[in-house]
Formats: sequence, structure tokens, C-alpha cells
Amino acid sequence: MSAPAEAVTPAAQPPPGVLSQIPTPAYVYDLAEVRRNHRALRAALPADSGVYYSLKANAHPSLLRVLREQGASPEVCSSGELEAALGAGWPAAEVLYSGPGKRDQEIEQALRAGVRHFSVDSPHAIEQLDRIARRLDVRAQCLLRINDDQPVRGQGLAMTGVASQFGADTQWVLQEPARFAGRPHAELVGLHLYMGTNLAEPEALLGQFDRSLRTAKTLRTVLAEHGVRLRVLDLGGGFGAPFASAGERIDLSALRPGLTALLDEELPDRHDDGTRIVFESGRYLVGTAGVLLTSVLDVKRSHGKDVVVLESGINHLGGMSGMRRLPPLNPQLVPDATGSAAPRPDVLDALVTGPLCTPLDTWSRAAKLPALRPGDVLVVPNVGAYGLSASLIAFLGHPLPLEAVIDGDDPGSVPETTRIHLTRTTVPAEAGTTLGVK
Ligand SMILES: Cc1ncc(COP(=O)(O)O)c(C=O)c1O
Repeated sequence: MSAPAEAVTPAAQPPPGVLSQIPTPAYVYDLAEVRRNHRALRAALPADSGVYYSLKANAHPSLLRVLREQGASPEVCSSGELEAALGAGWPAAEVLYSGPGKRDQEIEQALRAGVRHFSVDSPHAIEQLDRIARRLDVRAQCLLRINDDQPVRGQGLAMTGVASQFGADTQWVLQEPARFAGRPHAELVGLHLYMGTNLAEPEALLGQFDRSLRTAKTLRTVLAEHGVRLRVLDLGGGFGAPFASAGERIDLSALRPGLTALLDEELPDRHDDGTRIVFESGRYLVGTAGVLLTSVLDVKRSHGKDVVVLESGINHLGGMSGMRRLPPLNPQLVPDATGSAAPRPDVLDALVTGPLCTPLDTWSRAAKLPALRPGDVLVVPNVGAYGLSASLIAFLGHPLPLEAVIDGDDPGSVPETTRIHLTRTTVPAEAGTTLGVK
């Protein structure tokens, strides 16, 4: 038996008195932390640049509303995300619609809704957008996503420099620039360089922006010979955030001076020629703004180990494990409303699992935890991004967590709770007949 567990407080944990009122399982999002994150990111980026919020991180309507109020624009990858962005009050004209494979139907739906900015990943994608925009008699603008020659350095997830569905290889564009030159109804107006995600060091971020700017300069010259005037540079992002473990928002304050110097060096005329610089972020803006509350269902010993079974598994917080980035769960005991939970001794190498009937539903094989009892409530910090919406929510049919929203800037506010419902709907016979579906 070891010393009592250290009290570790994640940056944005809502007060225990609030958490203890919310039934488990539940995600709890704090709008005040979303505002703080947005302010921190804005302060780290050049003042005249734009910020897109990537809805894939979390499309909860309350978070979207706050990010719209803060001045972020929406980056969406599906008709569902588009609906969420429009529902949150963003005008369609502000939307950037990206993603490496788009159905005709979703492009048509987006164009009909008024979306005009698309990220495209290949000559086929430009032609597809041109064809549909022509049919609807509208003009769309596109950013060509680039898969650069080398992967980005740093600890995150590289999305360039390897064979990928994302973007067109730099060398391909240099060899066949005419194929990328835009079309009458799908004008090429910019480049989209998203190199990697979850970079924790400003140095690593600056390194990728430096590389992106150099690539953009080369492509700009070559594409100009084919009548393309690039006036938007989406430099992506990759701004890191802690996930499912204690930790604070990453300090990006060193970024602004470095980025401004880079832009002045690589694009000295950007103010005169009106080049717009934009960035994208998901996890930095919302990651630290959410926690998952989950209860302990069972505790036992098995083959010499303490085993803790939680009511949440990969069905509630599973996306990253699906991407082979299994987060070591580092849950913390939530004190009761009076904050008087007695200290408990540590258990050093507990097996922590979810409740699903598969051994894959394992969070950690060696978790350091306070000794737990059934009924204890745990809080998993920093899961505001890639939490519920990135999980295997239909697997095994357990109830989904509630989503509760609080606003730390308005202490009197009552948590607002909602729950996603999964239901099967009957597809009309006509749609099913070709598949033989009854
Ligand atoms: C094009 C693009 N933009 C934005 C994001 C959001 O990334 P993050 O949540 O790490 O900021 C991603 C993530 O994969 C992406 O591919």
C-alpha cells in the first residue's frame, strides 16, 4: 500500500459542487474555458489572420454558438457538420467545406445552402465541384489541399509527406499545374496546407508553418503561369492539447512573434496584394473545456491485479483508440459537493476497463489510482475534443452519456443537459429496392 494519491487538478475542471449534481455518465463542457482557449489562440496568431474552428473536434451546439460569438469561422467535413454550423447561426458564406472524398449530393446540398468555399484534394474534386456549381449556375471558390514532400517534425500525427487521401502531392502540382488551375465555376483562390495535428511545441508549429510558406511560394509562382491568383493561404494548425489526462492549455505565446517574422520574410507583400492568412483548430479550442464523469461499476482482484470496471468504455471515449492512439486513462476522484472526500491510498497498477463485452474495452493495464469502490464517480479531464463524437457510440447499445453545459463566466447559470439519441429509421421502399432491402 502506498502514499495517498496526489491531488492533481486539471486546468478547467468545473467545481465539485457542480459536478456532483450531474448524473453519470456525462460529458460536462465549460463555455468559459472555450472563450479562454479562443482568446489564447487569437493572441498567439497574427492579428490580421482568420481562425476556423474544425467541427470534427466537437459539434455541440452550445460550443459552436460561443465560438461563433468569439469570431471563429466553421470548417466542416460533412453535411451533418454543415447543418450544425448553420444551426449555430453561422452564415453559409463563412463556411469552409473540406474533406478528401465528397459525394455529389453533399456538394449540391452545400452549394444550395450558400456555401461557396471548398477545400479540394485532386483534379477530379475540382471538376466535380465545377460540374455541380455549373448545373446550379453558381460560382464556387476552392483551396487546393497540398500533401507536401516531407512529414512534419514533432510528436503529433503527421498528415503529409506520406501516401495519403489528403491533398495533392506538391510534386504532382509542379509537374501538371494546368490540371489544378481551377475551372469556370470552381475558381482556385488558395492553398490549404494542413500538415499534422497535436503539436505541443511552438518550435514544431513554426517549423511546419515555415515549410508550408516555402511550398506555397513555389506553387504560387507555378500556378500564376496558368492564370491562378492565390489570395488565401490556409496554413492549417496542429495546435496541441492534452487529452484524457491532467494538464493545462499549451502555452503558445511564443508563436505570434515567430509567425509574424516568418510571414514578413516569405510573404512581404501580403498586405498590399490582399493575401488572407487563415488557421484551423479543433482540439486547442475545446479540448480543455470538457470532462467526462463516469461511475465505477465494479472493483475486484483478478490474477493478482486490482480491476476497476467503469460505466464508460470505448463507447463513450473511444475515438482515439480507434485511431490506435489509446489514451491512458488518468481519471480523478471527484470529491462530494462539500469537497470533503477522505484521502484514499493509491493503487499502483490497476486494470481499468469499460463495461463492454470485449477485452478490447480496456483503458489501462497499469493505472495509478486511489483505491476505488463501486459507486465512486471519476472525472476524466480534457476530453472536450474528440470525446463523444469520436467514440464507438452504437457499439453494444449502452446508454450514451448526457452532455451538460455550464458557463464558468456566469456562476449562477444552471447546467443545461441534453442527450444524443440513436434510433433506427425506416428507409422508404424506393430507396431500398435497388439494394434488395425490404
Ligand atoms: C484539415 C484539418 N483541419 C483541422 C483539423 C483539426 O485538428 P485539431 O483538432 O488537431 O486542431 C484536422 C484534424 O485532423 C484536419 O485534418
